[in-house]
Amino acid sequence: MSIKYIWRHLLCLMKMFILIFVILLYYNDRIKQNKTLPLKLSCLNVNKTKYESEISIFKLRLNQRLFHLGQRFSHININKLLHIQSSSTKTFTYFCSKFCGGWGDRLRGITSAYILAVLLQRRFVIDMQYPCNLTNFLLPNLIDWKPIYRIHQQKNSLKLDIMYSKYADKVISHMATDNLTQIWLNYDNIFFTTNNDLISIVLKNPFFKLIKSQINIQSNESTQQELFPFLFEFLFKPTSIIINKIDELFLKSSLYFNQSIICMHIRIGQSLTLRNDKKLPFRQAIVHDMLEFIDKNLTDSYSSIFVTSDSYQIQQDIYKHYGNNRLLSVSGPIIHIDRLNTKMESNETLYHGFVKVISDFYFLGECDTLLRPRSGFSEWAGRRRLKEYSNLYIYCRGIHRVTSSKWRRPYNLC
Ligand SMILES: *[C@@H]1O[C@H](CO)[C@@H](O)[C@H](O)[C@H]1NC(C)=O
Ligand SMILES: *[C@@H]1O[C@H](CO)[C@@H](O)[C@H](O)[C@H]1NC(C)=O
Ligand SMILES: *[C@@H]1O[C@H](CO)[C@@H](O)[C@H](O)[C@H]1NC(C)=O
Ligand SMILES: *[C@@H]1O[C@H](CO)[C@@H](O)[C@H](O)[C@H]1NC(C)=O
Ligand SMILES: *[C@@H]1O[C@H](CO)[C@@H](O)[C@H](O)[C@H]1NC(C)=O
Ligand SMILES: *[C@@H]1O[C@H](CO)[C@@H](O)[C@H](O)[C@H]1NC(C)=O
Ligand SMILES: *[C@@H]1O[C@H](CO)[C@@H](O)[C@H](O)[C@H]1NC(C)=O
Repeated sequence: MSIKYIWRHLLCLMKMFILIFVILLYYNDRIKQNKTLPLKLSCLNVNKTKYESEISIFKLRLNQRLFHLGQRFSHININKLLHIQSSSTKTFTYFCSKFCGGWGDRLRGITSAYILAVLLQRRFVIDMQYPCNLTNFLLPNLIDWKPIYRIHQQKNSLKLDIMYSKYADKVISHMATDNLTQIWLNYDNIFFTTNNDLISIVLKNPFFKLIKSQINIQSNESTQQELFPFLFEFLFKPTSIIINKIDELFLKSSLYFNQSIICMHIRIGQSLTLRNDKKLPFRQAIVHDMLEFIDKNLTDSYSSIFVTSDSYQIQQDIYKHYGNNRLLSVSGPIIHIDRLNTKMESNETLYHGFVKVISDFYFLGECDTLLRPRSGFSEWAGRRRLKEYSNLYIYCRGIHRVTSSKWRRPYNLC
């Protein structure tokens, strides 16, 4: 399959979606003309929800994003990436069976592992079953990274967990300067666990120069920050349970507060909701500061407000502040996918909690305005926004506007 073919196909799909979208807008307007609210609701609740889940606004936006990324990264040799994945018999697996960090950490690990797999010209696999199977929430998009068989036993394997080990520094120094292909030549399958950003390190390794130029990764984009939006969409697409969650939010925001979406990620660390979580300093005033900022500086009173937080109490307080109609949030239990007590939580809670984590992650990529603390989770989510630096605010002992990649936070700890 040529890249031209893929993009032409996508373009065609997009045109179709746009047509449907226009019809939908028209339909939407007709309903809105009906003045009596209760009738409006009963109409929409029953039959419109069904109608819209078939024509998913979220899927439409995912396609627009793919199209946009296809242009921005049009120089990347996708055929080469597809070829490596389909032709190699050796594998390189991102492996997570316990304690591999929260979703932000895991994304750092997964994207690093993928670039390593490509440079080593091995088939990339994601094996993440902790605390439940990743494939419940995310599916392969352009390459199939699902494990084919349980490989541990038969073949010559190497397990490398550099998250908590003493040899991490040594492995990382190999990655920077040595011929890893040679070092790992005798291993058919490599299982790799990390939450590090290794992308800029391995892309500078002189032994990978040739393959890097074949894939055509430019030197000014050889960082995790630059490549993330491409890598995430290249690897993943959401399952229908996630798509439906997000479409519910789009539907609600189109009903009442339709101008734009302001998003808040509020992470305070160890709270009554997440007792096993780590403590985070300088977050006591985050809720107060964010609300004050939204109410005073962002005066668009027709904006919906989306919130995701690590505390039920905060979520409740914010609902009280903005009211049910204006506030958007993904329903479900609040969990930290790594720092949890698997003996205490039921499998159902873990499952629904994970659904919420992935849905929150996707929705943060759809915001017109994003307020976030220092956090891997919302950093990666924010990098998915089509205009990454448009209306972006970071909380670091106060609210700061971020306008480009050159921004540095005013305090190290915050
Ligand atoms: C909604 O759909 C059901 C069956 O699909 C139909 O019986 C019902 O009358 C519809 N309601 C409205 C308000 O159109
Ligand atoms: C995840 O899925 C795989 C393959 O479908 C299955 O073998 C495994 O038991 C599942 N793991 C969990 C924790 O459910
Ligand atoms: C690295 O090692 C592999 C395997 O021995 C070899 O084929 C390759 O040529 C080496 N790369 C470079 C740039 O020397
Ligand atoms: C990298 O440089 C090229 C031109 O040399 C430019 O078009 C592109 O926008 C730059 N990319 C980034 C991420 O700065
Ligand atoms: C949003 O809703 C208001 C009030 O219902 C309406 O006047 C306005 O035209 C709508 N704007 C858009 C962009 O749909
Ligand atoms: C929860 O899932 C794990 C892994 O699939 C399984 O071993 C365990 O028995 C399940 N617990 C319950 C209560 O179903
Ligand atoms: C919010 O508005 C106040 C008063 O106009 C201003 O001093 C402050 O700099 C604004 N905050 C940000 C982060 O732009």
